[in-house]
Amino acid sequence: MSDFEAGISPLFTESEISNRVEALGRVISEAYAGQELVLICVLKGSFIFAADLARRIRLPLRIEFFGVQSYGAQTSSSGVVQITLDLAHPIEGRHVLIVEDIVDTGLTLSYLSEQLRARGPKSLKICALLHKPARMQRAVDIDYLGFTIDDVFVVGYGLDHAERHRNLPYIGVLTATP
Ligand code: IMP
Repeated sequence: MSDFEAGISPLFTESEISNRVEALGRVISEAYAGQELVLICVLKGSFIFAADLARRIRLPLRIEFFGVQSYGAQTSSSGVVQITLDLAHPIEGRHVLIVEDIVDTGLTLSYLSEQLRARGPKSLKICALLHKPARMQRAVDIDYLGFTIDDVFVVGYGLDHAERHRNLPYIGVLTATP
């Protein structure tokens, strides 16, 4: 195992992720058939998932980026969500799908949904790659979900710990920090 993978135990392989993302893309394409969609990629953790998912959706699509930060260098949510980048265009009257890397306590997504709903989209749904139900503090309806996981801290495929490991091509459990 190379240095950049030290302290990480594999959880989902590249092909498991790719198959799941393809299935999500298919379901989303069918659900919104005949409509135009705005995907909101929640930065930074969703950038790889959103890029792969977008290429699996067979619909006219717009992509927006929304930057939020809730963890800093910790491994548990502070509950304080800071907007680091706002959308570039209005979403009023549009079908909007939030693309999130992971729902942990649910605090980030419930804040985000509230913020975006106030902007008057025609519909607002959530697609999350991962869900850790054990730590849920705020109920969030996830319309499209990749995988449910145990209460572990995961990295890779866009997910970080203190800004590291986002470039791992698979998802792994962080078992030791340097
Ligand atoms: P929540 O507000 O607790 O639901 O946390 C949501 C955000 O925390 C996610 O968008 C991630 O950026 C981050 N997060 C939660 N769990 C993990 C994890 O296991 N690994 C990496 N980031 C995580």
